[in-house]
Amino acid sequence: MAKKIVVTSGKGGVGKTTVCCNLGVQLARKGLRVAVCDLDFGLNNVDVVLGVENMALYDVVDVIEGRCRARQALVQHPRYPTLFSLASNKISERYVSPQAIRLVLETLSPRFDFLLIDSPAGIDEGFHRAASCADEALLVTTPHISAMRDADRVASILRSYRFREILLAVNLVRRDMARRGEILSSEEISSALRLPVAAVIPEEDVYFLDNIAERSRAFKKLAERYLSEGREEKRPFMLGRWKR
Ligand SMILES: Nc1ncnc2c1ncn2[C@@H]1O[C@H](COP(=O)(O)OP(=O)(O)OP(=O)(O)O)[C@@H](O)[C@H]1O
Ligand SMILES: [Mg+2]
Repeated sequence: MAKKIVVTSGKGGVGKTTVCCNLGVQLARKGLRVAVCDLDFGLNNVDVVLGVENMALYDVVDVIEGRCRARQALVQHPRYPTLFSLASNKISERYVSPQAIRLVLETLSPRFDFLLIDSPAGIDEGFHRAASCADEALLVTTPHISAMRDADRVASILRSYRFREILLAVNLVRRDMARRGEILSSEEISSALRLPVAAVIPEEDVYFLDNIAERSRAFKKLAERYLSEGREEKRPFMLGRWKR
């Protein structure tokens, strides 16, 4: 059965989709079978980031409404054969129950090692729908106070889901500012949010321009983190994980 990881943030535009897709690419490069599931209804752009726009014949709502089977809605990536994407519906106001989505992902689960779930920003229905499909969470934040405050609120909601693990990815880190100590360090962010940091991703033009950075050290390390044996024991910067 696949590991189901929701990639979420609270604040918009901090890099959830970028992290979700780049993690998927790195896992697929290691031969793992990965499906990136776009659950950001209405503002979906996993297909754009992965460079497979207009390739999907069906989306997740077509599966739910019986127009196709779950695997028919998957798009195989032309460059990474074990990487697939599942398109979300383009209509944001549409009500789709968490149970219906969960059923689709459960159907796909035996075929994959990882289902990476791209969540919408915010903490409303779309967020809960995405979170309720997962058994682990990767919380994306930036070192900025506004993003961290939202991440803190999301972290406390995620704790109520009793996930197996909640990890942090700190994105858009300016190397120069980090060197000069002008922004919070990953240890400080970890201790403020009481979660382990699994990735520190620099702000780089390559993500902005190409979306996928195949040679990214940060994403390689993040993929390794998810693949490493006994990762439950490895908890860097761990401080009172389940305590509030
Ligand atoms: N590390 C980075 N370096 C440079 N640009 C980045 C980085 N991470 C993300 N970006 C850029 O920031 C923008 C927002 O990223 P992305 O769409 O992944 O965020 P998001 O959290 O999914 O947004 P939304 O909340 O709208 O879904 C994109 O233009 C993306 O290319
Ligand atoms: Mg997004």
